Amino acid sequence: MSLNDKIANELNHFLKIITYKDEAEADESLTKSDKEKSISLMRVNASGEVSAQALYRGQAFFSKTPEVKEHLIKAGDEEFAHLEWCTKRLEELGGKKSLLDPFYYAGSFTLGSLAALIGDGTSLGFVEETEKQVVEHLKRHLNEMSPDDKKSREILEKMLEEEEIHGQEAKDHGSKDLPAPVKGIMTATSKIMTTLSRYI
Ligand SMILES: [Fe+2]
Ligand SMILES: [Fe+2]
Repeated sequence: MSLNDKIANELNHFLKIITYKDEAEADESLTKSDKEKSISLMRVNASGEVSAQALYRGQAFFSKTPEVKEHLIKAGDEEFAHLEWCTKRLEELGGKKSLLDPFYYAGSFTLGSLAALIGDGTSLGFVEETEKQVVEHLKRHLNEMSPDDKKSREILEKMLEEEEIHGQEAKDHGSKDLPAPVKGIMTATSKIMTTLSRYI
């Protein structure tokens, strides 16, 4: 594939992700406050999956070896399934995706590209740390979400399982441990993103 085709392919993927919608039947089974809580949490998770997509695509675009590239594309496809689940659930609950998703995508793609340009080991280290932080964040969401919202909880539990596998796979492919300040910046960035997506 020529460079122009590759860039066009990435632009198409960007549009596919930020415009992704699903048809869903309204779920009226929750109380107003449980529903509002779930909407804000599922919006954060949908944004997280938009970012995960972009991160992996950026990393795959610049990865140095075909094997790592293939792994990142496969993990990215699984993140797309997560995005589908979160989007559908958000629509059932009557919530909207975050308006900031296009910015998250662009920022995450850039971060993924930079990590991949440093080298595959660093790039995989980035995946490992991201997935670790996502797992912790999903556990916090499960604590916060109403026990009555079984459908959303089931989605989060399944995602948690798969994010753990993504982290382990990155390790198995030879991830390098990231310097502590980099991990700190990643935590701070995700804190800002998860806070903003709760509201917009
Ligand atoms: Fe995911
Ligand atoms: Fe993941």
